[in-house]
Amino acid sequence: VRLVAVAEHIESGRLVAFSELALPRDHPIEAWQWATLVLREHRGHRLGLAVKLANLDYLAATAPAVKLVITGNAQENAPMIAVNELLGFEVVATETFWQKSLAT
Ligand SMILES: CC(C)(COP(=O)(O)OP(=O)(O)OC[C@H]1O[C@@H](n2cnc3c(N)ncnc32)[C@H](O)[C@@H]1OP(=O)(O)O)[C@@H](O)C(=O)NCCC(=O)NCCS
Repeated sequence: VRLVAVAEHIESGRLVAFSELALPRDHPIEAWQWATLVLREHRGHRLGLAVKLANLDYLAATAPAVKLVITGNAQENAPMIAVNELLGFEVVATETFWQKSLAT
């Protein structure tokens, strides 16, 4: 099951932000916070926080058995980390990812 919250820019009718939670079937007390995205021209107005919060409220109302929300962030993604800290998320582990660029 996926829960998605979106923000609509009323003037244009465009959806300009979304946040997505996934509920694994085999772990009913867990939810995974997947992507949150705000269109570049609408950033800086706390829409990321708004859609994330709306979705967490929706989660509490529709899946009250969930006790844990898990997510991951790139360490350099200061805006998303600021939102997560504001919401009370805590670091439980760090990971290192490797990449190799194939561009010449
Ligand atoms: C992450 C994202 C959703 C946040 O959107 P937003 O709500 O517009 O966020 P804001 O620009 O209001 O910033 C939120 C907080 O981050 C902080 N912040 C913003 N830009 C920052 C920067 N360049 N450096 C450090 N902190 C920054 C601010 O403290 C801000 O909090 P404040 O309102 O109290 O000042 C948006 O930047 C985005 O869509 N990024 C690309 C997608 C992405 O990386 N998603 C997360 C991984 S799934």
